[in-house]
Amino acid sequence: MKNRFASLSAAVVVLLLTLALVMQGGSIPTALAQTPAANAPAASGWTTFTAAQVEGKVIMAAKASALPANCQPPKQKDKYTIAMSQANKAEPWRTAMNQQLEAAAKAAGFDIVFADAAQDNAKQVSDIENFLTQGVDLLVVSPNEAAPMTDEINKVWKACIPVIVLDRNITNTDYSMFIGANNVSIGKSAGQYVAKWCKDKGLSPCNVVELRGLEGAPPAKDRGDGFRDGIKDNPDVKIIASQNADWLREKAVPAADAMLRANEKVDVLYGHNDPMAEGAYLAAQSAGKDLKKILFVGIDALPTPDGGIESVLQGRLGVTFIYPTGGKQAIEWAKLILIKHVVPPLWVELPFATVDPSNAQDVCNQYACPDAKTGGAAATMAATASK
Ligand code: FRU
Repeated sequence: MKNRFASLSAAVVVLLLTLALVMQGGSIPTALAQTPAANAPAASGWTTFTAAQVEGKVIMAAKASALPANCQPPKQKDKYTIAMSQANKAEPWRTAMNQQLEAAAKAAGFDIVFADAAQDNAKQVSDIENFLTQGVDLLVVSPNEAAPMTDEINKVWKACIPVIVLDRNITNTDYSMFIGANNVSIGKSAGQYVAKWCKDKGLSPCNVVELRGLEGAPPAKDRGDGFRDGIKDNPDVKIIASQNADWLREKAVPAADAMLRANEKVDVLYGHNDPMAEGAYLAAQSAGKDLKKILFVGIDALPTPDGGIESVLQGRLGVTFIYPTGGKQAIEWAKLILIKHVVPPLWVELPFATVDPSNAQDVCNQYACPDAKTGGAAATMAATASK
């Protein structure tokens, strides 16, 4: 009886923990949600992270070490080599991630080598296998899809090489840490923005067409689920069509074109990233739609010439969300793990921010996008803050 009570209480604790994590907005696969909330005592040779070392929010506490229990802490060396396995370098956001990794690695005195899987899971597995053979000191990986990459990523960690997973999670936590923003919350914010926009315009119904990311990549599910939650604020908002365009602008153009031609009234086009939202804009333009009447929603908000911040300033995207790449943070944690033998949190969540016409110029000034105005709002804000 006592035993049964104990296992029932344990189940209730796990359920409450899971609920708490889900309510924070994280998409937590069941296996991951059962991780204890407190840091495990550090194993010999390791020290647990301190709050000051964390940029972002700790979603999952530290394990006893950054490696499996049978591994020694990394050996001290004069020069370390970091390997970066990128899902697809051809996408602008991923180029930005690689650039940030490269700059941070250089500043830290690390060598860094890159591999580009070009959206091919088999290629990414063999890229990582090559890094294993070469004997790199730490792997950073942004997986193309979760399930096909999980075993290979686990294999590296089990070979006593620290692994930092960036942006797209895998299906278990057999790695050193995960760093990424909360895609459920971003999707929800996008949904709430749409709900309000539709209400302000008095649109009933307010018809939404969705362009989804690659389905096996967790951000696609999370951005879709979060959005559906966010639009609940306004029952007039209806998702009337949805198609995958695998994060790519060139696939989004024909997908959006087909959905626009099949549906006379489309008020909102939601792309799970900016390139797909821009593709939808092009499709709407060539279908002869009144572009001023449609809200185009994207995610990424890069400060580059063809990035989302400029697009909002130029009036194509109505809203987008800054999705941090985590490149800089990954290198900071690599340093702590390799040199100081710090056990990182198992999951660190990075913040995101909304960019719409009300703040696009300030954001542009802050991130030095091509239309940044010196002496504008940013300078005024900085001057005020320094007083
Ligand atoms: C690039 C990208 C970004 C997106 C992220 C999600 O591959 O599609 O545009 O925000 O991946 O993982």
